[in-house]
Amino acid sequence: MKNFWLNLNKPIYALAPMAGVTDSAFRQICKSFGVDVVYSEMVSATALAYGSKKTLELLKFAEAERPFVVQLFGGKPEHFAIAAKLISKKIKPDGLDINFGCPVKKMARQGAGAVLMNDLKLAREIIKAVIKNTSLPVSIKIRAKVGETDAIKFLRAVKDLDIKAVMIHGRSLAQGHSGAVDWLAIKQARPLVKGILLANGGVKDKASADDLIKKTRADGVGIGQAALGRPWIFEEVKSPQPPLLKGEEEIFQIAMKHAKLVEKLKGKQGIIEMRKHLCWYVAGLPGASKLRQKLVKAESIKDVTAIFSF
Ligand SMILES: Cc1cc2nc3c(=O)[nH]c(=O)nc-3n(C[C@H](O)[C@H](O)[C@H](O)COP(=O)(O)O)c2cc1C
Repeated sequence: MKNFWLNLNKPIYALAPMAGVTDSAFRQICKSFGVDVVYSEMVSATALAYGSKKTLELLKFAEAERPFVVQLFGGKPEHFAIAAKLISKKIKPDGLDINFGCPVKKMARQGAGAVLMNDLKLAREIIKAVIKNTSLPVSIKIRAKVGETDAIKFLRAVKDLDIKAVMIHGRSLAQGHSGAVDWLAIKQARPLVKGILLANGGVKDKASADDLIKKTRADGVGIGQAALGRPWIFEEVKSPQPPLLKGEEEIFQIAMKHAKLVEKLKGKQGIIEMRKHLCWYVAGLPGASKLRQKLVKAESIKDVTAIFSF
């Protein structure tokens, strides 16, 4: 088994998994700005176990994205076992990750995501099922706290399992995706992580990335929301120089490159899906609100080109 995690230079800057956001086009754009490792959007182990072609389709990726980690969610070890085998054989990513952090209620009702942190026995069964059915390195993504279980209690319960990397989102389930990040919880978990530890939550620039790494002693960080409309954040956090602000023209060029890639990979529907990305790109630019009003109606590359050429 090749454990790509060990070949990455530290600190490691990862694009955190984001459903509805981190598709192949966005991952490729982030890669062009130097991100070290990218995660897929979370995909359902149950859907894969039932042979969903659409779910497999979601996992297509370009070689340039490597190292590419597929993230699975679900609540049944037997579904994870089938999914792990299938992905390893058909998709051939560089790693498999298990979601123990998603706060969405619909997932909680299926016993998937963050609620699993409160069911240590089942969480162990799921991790074991994935490890047993793949030769790829297996990682997990957890939260600082879910109900009665904090990261330390969870990691103690799984410390004998061969987990190669852990990303800890330093927020509780109750906090969702915003609010203060408990860096101390990540730091305290450090001795329990034998492999790579990525700290996650609230990184918005180089200073906050450096700060989180220093305070937590993690091997790197996962960046989520700060990459929305700003995929160049990976170039900024990796550069020793202070960042040069990107001008409007350069931002439009990056957004156009992204849109063209989306259209190539997903067709016209892709442009409709990526309207949110287009709006994120123009956030903070002069006339952003007028641009957004047009971008939310864009249906084709032609429309996007016309809006950005005004
Ligand atoms: C729109 C959105 C979708 C997300 N989807 C996932 C997901 O599929 N899997 C996952 O583990 N976390 C998901 N997350 C959580 C992020 O990976 C990350 O932990 C969280 O945003 C905190 O990092 P940040 O403060 O850098 O954004 C999502 C977050 C957002 C905002």
